[in-house]
Amino acid sequence: MGILSDDKQAEREHLIGLLTKAYWMEIETVMSYVANSINPDGVRAREIIESLEKDIQEELGHAQQFGHRIKELYGTVPGSSDFAAEQTYLQPPGDNIDIVPVIKGVIEAETGAIEHYNKIIEYADEHGDPVTADMVTTILADEEGHRRLFEGFLREYERGAVG
Ligand SMILES: [Fe+2]
Ligand SMILES: [Fe+2]
Repeated sequence: MGILSDDKQAEREHLIGLLTKAYWMEIETVMSYVANSINPDGVRAREIIESLEKDIQEELGHAQQFGHRIKELYGTVPGSSDFAAEQTYLQPPGDNIDIVPVIKGVIEAETGAIEHYNKIIEYADEHGDPVTADMVTTILADEEGHRRLFEGFLREYERGAVG
């Protein structure tokens, strides 16, 4: 019974694929948040920088959790040669004083993670893997918190309350 049984090899492989995509999403988010926590200039960016610095550690922890689950399902955590960047929307803006594109990019990254992680939870639930479903549910809660925080930042900036 369960996802580790012999007759569930196809389901395990599908899950490993989903988890590998999640792993890369987290790794790329770490790269993007590192860059975007260093590049921005100005007083207005202070809170964004501090928030991203904190998130970097969380996202790295998520990547590690996804990696461990891949291994537990008899997969292999990929090497860096397999990496393909996707976060076009989180490249450094032309002007480092312009923080709104960073906020919007973070919201987009978190939204992508939320969508993908919901998919993983649904698949894991349907195919007898409550451990993956449980782990990803906890990670999903973090991403929902990140997105909500940055939605608040965006409202503040769009209202012009800051700067
Ligand atoms: Fe994450
Ligand atoms: Fe996040």
